[in-house]
Amino acid sequence: MSLNSIAQKLMEPGKGILAADESEGTIAKRFAKINLPNTLDLRRDYREMLFRSTDAMKTYISGVILTEETLEQSAADGTSFRAMMADADVIPGIKVDRGTFPMPGDNGEKITEGLDGLRQRLQRYATLGAGFAKWRGVITINDVAPTRNNIRANAHALARYAILCQEAGIVPVVEPEVVGDGDPGNHSMERCAQVTSEVLENVFKELRLAGVDLGGMLLKPNMVLPGVNSRDRPSVMDVAKRTIEVLREHVPAAVPGIAFLSGGQTDEEATAHLSAINQIKGLPWPLTFSYGRALQNVALRTWAGRRENFPAAQAAFTHRARMNSLAALGKWEPAVDQAA
Ligand code: 13P
Repeated sequence: MSLNSIAQKLMEPGKGILAADESEGTIAKRFAKINLPNTLDLRRDYREMLFRSTDAMKTYISGVILTEETLEQSAADGTSFRAMMADADVIPGIKVDRGTFPMPGDNGEKITEGLDGLRQRLQRYATLGAGFAKWRGVITINDVAPTRNNIRANAHALARYAILCQEAGIVPVVEPEVVGDGDPGNHSMERCAQVTSEVLENVFKELRLAGVDLGGMLLKPNMVLPGVNSRDRPSVMDVAKRTIEVLREHVPAAVPGIAFLSGGQTDEEATAHLSAINQIKGLPWPLTFSYGRALQNVALRTWAGRRENFPAAQAAFTHRARMNSLAALGKWEPAVDQAA
């Protein structure tokens, strides 16, 4: 399949991406919240519960972002996760960055690592059937950040990653995340809009310089939101409109789709915002979800480490996936969500 057809398949109307690529450190944090140890068996069980949610996978999910561990892992009965995805016609993806590290200097900023040896790793992932990849750059807002240096360094790394993916026949999902935990004083919705604009401008400049085919990638941005501690409380429609203004200004129409991260929003906020965004008419690209937490929160708690809870946890996951599918079509209503 061409890069563009993979990207379009990931953006199939009413479907979106399940981000299940929590690193060992991140999944350890999620498990710790429900008092579970971070063991290989529990990680496998948890991912098996999600990937065996057959209805959700077939109907609402176009792709799943895996980790190096899960790309080659099998369920307890020996069925490989990749075979499950193939059955559900879901495209397997792979997180290829090696995490974020402190940027030199003391501005509290981060830079993503993982470019060394990436060309060889990508060839291997392609052989294993990965159709797309993800790399997350993190942009911090505080009194002094983001600096131009950090924005440029992250944009450059994203472009290096993206062109290497395309060379290997893998669709790069380009994720520059402006994170939402800045101080209230300096992180209003407007500040997020300005920073997101500057970041996207730099990212597309670097992507073009690197020779990335914009028709063979997807963008995974943050929505334009106030920081988590901000007193700024915009309406759902304000968030949708401001997010679209920023994206329209910076994301070329050649990009086949935009799949948002949820970034610590509550489940319902992430769904409501996506639905409002999709009610805005005349947009040049389709917009959907590529959620981690906002798809998994309830399922994770319901599973609680027990295989006997699989059916209940799968029902919770399927409900969230269906709500976000409706949102991707601009048709979600709070009443439908609560009726379940
Ligand atoms: P969240 O939706 O939990 O922000 O995760 C999505 C993701 O892939 C972040 O890199």
